[in-house]
Amino acid sequence: MRGFAGKGAFVTGGASGIGFALGRAFAAEGMKVMLADIEQAALDKSVAALRETGAEVRGLVCDVADRASVERAAVETVAAFGKVHVLCNNAGIGTGGPMELISPGDWEWTIGVNLMGVIHGIAAFLPHIKTHGEGGHVVNTASMAGMVSSPLMGPYNATKFAVVSLSETLAAELAGSSIGVSVLCPGWVDTRINESARNRPSRFGPAPQPLPAARERMAQVAELLRQGMKPDEVAARVMAAIRDNDLYVFTHTAMRGAVEDRFRRILAAYDKAARFGA
Ligand code: NAI
Repeated sequence: MRGFAGKGAFVTGGASGIGFALGRAFAAEGMKVMLADIEQAALDKSVAALRETGAEVRGLVCDVADRASVERAAVETVAAFGKVHVLCNNAGIGTGGPMELISPGDWEWTIGVNLMGVIHGIAAFLPHIKTHGEGGHVVNTASMAGMVSSPLMGPYNATKFAVVSLSETLAAELAGSSIGVSVLCPGWVDTRINESARNRPSRFGPAPQPLPAARERMAQVAELLRQGMKPDEVAARVMAAIRDNDLYVFTHTAMRGAVEDRFRRILAAYDKAARFGA
């Protein structure tokens, strides 16, 4: 997509971290920005901060795990801006632990936000983007966890692999059209993802108490996040990807080796299959 000024952007998880940085980057390009988030207080602060720059920014409370909530958000955003061109399905949460101990509520919450949230966004906004015919771009936030499977992150990994897959599928479906697709796969970014439980709806049950071993790991993760890439750098990469219509957006080149290692093991399994004459 080329030319941002005056166009509409809708960003989920827009009150914090990467989503807020995306909103700031779009606003800086003169776009009309709707930040959508489940947390009203953080949303109000973020909208106020971006409005101070003189940008046309609004906020709405939306639970991406709830299809009706996302559909209402689409209606409100189109009513406010006329047209939406850029859709960022970015809201996400983190859960983890040994696979056999993960509660049904943790699975449902993670799948609801990280996977169904993206599906709901596409269903609610893509028909509108197709109809107005001016072109646009869909950005789905996955993770490096959508490329390689680290232990103790089962629900997170599963949903992020799914987001990569559905982004690849959507890109194939929209090939040759004026609507691009990018899937963002960052490594550690300095955000509040490790405090995801702050916005856990009660319908998914209480957040489980971490095991003693997990507490140590959580402290390590907090440090890795603190030292991670700044969200504005990630947003700058996304802007370039939208301009160039890049499907894959990687931000942490040090993680390339992990992807190469995964594919090496897959190819080795094919070599073994060939020895069976398959
Ligand atoms: P963050 O916690 O700072 O921001 C996430 C935002 O999503 C919060 O404002 C939160 O209120 C909102 N949110 C949570 N549940 C929601 C729901 N049901 N409906 C609407 N909004 C909801 O975390 P961060 O890191 O900015 O997360 C953004 C995306 O980046 C997520 O998809 C995450 O998985 C992904 N990501 C983050 C990485 C990191 O190291 N921080 C690395 C790779 C991917």
